Formats: sequence, C-alpha cells, structure tokens
Amino acid sequence: MKLLRRGTVDSIADGSPSKVGRRGMRRPQMGFRRLLSALLLVGVLAVLTRPGRLGARALARWVDARVERFSEPESGTYARVLAPLLGRLYRQVAEDVAVELAARRTRRATIVDLGCGPGDLVVAISQRLRDARIIGLDLSPSMLLWAGRHATTDGRLKFVVGDAADLPFGDASVDVVVSTLSLHHWAEPADVFAEIARVLRSGGVALIYDLDLLTLGSSQMAEVAIAAGLEPSDIGRERLGGGLITRLFVRFRLEGLAEE
Ligand SMILES: C[S@@+](CC[C@H](N)C(=O)[O-])C[C@H]1O[C@@H](n2cnc3c(N)ncnc32)[C@H](O)[C@@H]1O
Repeated sequence: MKLLRRGTVDSIADGSPSKVGRRGMRRPQMGFRRLLSALLLVGVLAVLTRPGRLGARALARWVDARVERFSEPESGTYARVLAPLLGRLYRQVAEDVAVELAARRTRRATIVDLGCGPGDLVVAISQRLRDARIIGLDLSPSMLLWAGRHATTDGRLKFVVGDAADLPFGDASVDVVVSTLSLHHWAEPADVFAEIARVLRSGGVALIYDLDLLTLGSSQMAEVAIAAGLEPSDIGRERLGGGLITRLFVRFRLEGLAEE
C-alpha cells in the first residue's frame, strides 16, 4: 500500500509501538483507533458547533462546485450512477405531488420539473399520476439527451431545454412545479422563484427539494423571497423525514398566488 513506508512495515512486522522514519528517527505512532477517534471528534464538532456546521457547508459547496458539471461525460455518470441511487427520494416527491393534487381534486394536472437532469423524477411522477402531463426542463442539452429517452409520442412526458429563471410557460398555466437537487445550482434563485410564482395557477403549488448542506438557509431564502417580489412567509422551509438519504434534504414550498 502506498501509505505505508518501509519503516512502518518493519515496525508492524516486529510489533514495536513506534514507526521508524526514513532518516532513522523515531516518530510517535498514531494508532488506527486514535485516528478514528480524532476523525469522529472532528465529525461530531462539525455537526454540533455552528462554526463546524458552517465549515462543513462551505466544504460541501466547494466540492460540489468542482464535481458537478453537466456536460458529457459528467451527465452520463450522473444519469447512470447517481440518479439511480435517489429512487426513494423521487418516489417520495411523486407521493407528495399526488397528495397535493388529491387535496385540490386536480386531475390531468400540468407539472413542471425544473432542472430535471436525466428525467428520473419525471418518470417517478408519471408512474404515480397516470393522467398528468409532465414537462422536464433543464439548461443542459446533454442531460436532456438522457432524459429524452423517457419522452412519449403523445406529449404526456416532454423535455425542453430552458432556464428556470426564464420559463417558457404562460402566466398561471402550471398546477405543480417540482425540483430536486437543482436549486443550489441556480445563479439567481430570486429570478427563478419570481418565475415560479408567475407560472403557478392560483391553488397550484411548488415543491423544491434540495440538500440541506448545500442549499439556502431560512434567512437567505427570506431575502430571496423579497427579491422575487414575495413575502418571506410565502416560501416555507422544512426538513424531510424518511430514510437515510431523504433525511439529508429540505423542502421549500410555495403556494400559487397568481390570478387566472
Ligand atoms: C444535480 S442535477 C439534478 C438533476 C435531477 N433533478 C435529479 O434530481 O437527479 C442539477 C440539474 O439542474 C440543472 N440546472 C442548473 N441550473 C439550471 C437552470 N437555471 N435552469 C434549468 N436547469 C438548471 C443542471 O443542468 C442539472 O441537470
């Protein structure tokens, strides 16, 4: 193994408690258990203290900005490796949408998925709501090549290239806007929320899911709401329950306000 130096191998072999460095100097050995405890302590501090949480958040954003890009080959990797791991989240979102529509007795709803990526959420919703018309919208043409596999010839499932901040839909024309894992990529979230408020029918609803670690906090979302011409209380923020993965998510909720 790369990490083990010669001196280390020798000291493990003869059972001595310390490592011998290349220059023959004795160095204190950090046993595996100590290393694990130190990591655990750092992890606990990261979760329990405010500076720790802020640090973890900044680190996660930094990593995300470098890892997540949506041209090929990254789109293909996302579609084949990451999206299939999120099946449970997509099923939960589809169920949430079904509950919202049932409460409104809306049939044949028009649903838009912002930043649909390879389209797995669109598929999950279409399996739960057979009558709905669902449009997936995404900035990335290469993501949409993957999503396009799910399009139907009758137009019930459709995918379009577009910017969530400039939606190609009429005022008060959409029953439900959904989105998963896209909000933290939006350059101007306020512009997107203004667009969502414009296209939602009165009585419609937007459910925007994102990773708690990467997305906007409550006070940032209040600023976004004001910049979008809304009241801070118009956009709710709540943590999700459920399984290990869904617990990492928060959901933003906005009721349709537009006049028809
Ligand atoms: C991490 S992927 C999530 C894809 C999918 N929603 C999912 O849950 O698997 C983020 C997606 O948001 C898209 N995106 C980012 N900014 C966007 C914008 N302003 N308008 C539309 N799509 C956007 C990206 O192209 C990418 O496909």
